[in-house]
Amino acid sequence: MVATAPVPGGARVDMSTRLGAFQMPDPVLTASGCAAAGRELAPFLDLNAIGAVVTKSIMLNPRSGRPTPRMAETPSGMLNSIGLQGPGIEEFIAKDLRWLRERGIRTVVSIAGGSVQEYQKLAQRLRHEPGIAALEVNISCPNVESRGQVFACDPLSAGSVVQVVRRHTSPDVPVLAKLSPDVTDIVAIAKSVLDAGADGLSLINTLLGMVIDPDTMRPMLGGMTGGLSGPAIRPVAVRAVWQVHAAYPRVPILGMGGIRTGQDAFEFLLAGASAVSVGTAVFNDPHAPARISAELHDILAARGFARLSDAIGLGHTMQARHVAAMDARRAAEQEALG
Ligand code: DHB
Repeated sequence: MVATAPVPGGARVDMSTRLGAFQMPDPVLTASGCAAAGRELAPFLDLNAIGAVVTKSIMLNPRSGRPTPRMAETPSGMLNSIGLQGPGIEEFIAKDLRWLRERGIRTVVSIAGGSVQEYQKLAQRLRHEPGIAALEVNISCPNVESRGQVFACDPLSAGSVVQVVRRHTSPDVPVLAKLSPDVTDIVAIAKSVLDAGADGLSLINTLLGMVIDPDTMRPMLGGMTGGLSGPAIRPVAVRAVWQVHAAYPRVPILGMGGIRTGQDAFEFLLAGASAVSVGTAVFNDPHAPARISAELHDILAARGFARLSDAIGLGHTMQARHVAAMDARRAAEQEALG
């Protein structure tokens, strides 16, 4: 399966993929919070060609967010503390969703709430809106007033949010639960949201971090703590995707966390992701999703894949083969020793 020759005749690799019922021609999506509702990226990127635009998490009511400064650079990454600033669901539907729908852009709507009831109202409000390919349920925003509101840190709370969203969303629209890496056992949280009806998982949200300014000798961010993103978190994300795919190989995973190149995206596919979101990279390269998709295509072609889907979770098969070969070699060596 993993040949080194290009696809015969230089044929294109079939890059199509799916997240449950949501089928897309390309596996690279934007990441929630890093492209607003797509308008700012449109001059740089053909939004109809990428997998989908994943919108900034929307809440029920307009919200001004956290105090400034809201961003800080970190080694190989950045911290953000936006605090879910946004226009609220009504304006989002009237302006952003309409803009996306009029252009036929595949759209994943990310929702966030402060209570189970708020998530329910959001799902009810979005239920009859056309043009939504999937819902991403952000239960893992790090920038909320209380850690008790990070539903993804507790299996019961995570499950109750997903259950109401699933119940109030059209059966044709997949519900993806976005999990936090800031937990002891991400597979346990995955189990809880899957039992509650999630059709897929978005892995991972940002890690909670902090930077202290040595000049002022106090936290750099107005909100003190923030979400860490960028290449610094990629190994954490790959590990989370690997662990969850090992436990639930048939569950679709949208992988994200520091993806900057096609090779990074390939790593997520091998770990078990069916598609990837690109977030922090678009801040210095708004063309990144298209570039990463092209790079991934060439990597798959050079390795002889006819279809992207053949690479999903392949790292697990390769590892199992490697372990079996090592075991066989050890057994043969033992036998030779008598
Ligand atoms: C926000 C920040 C995040 O890092 C995140 O993952 C979700 C939301 C925010 O502050 O709006």
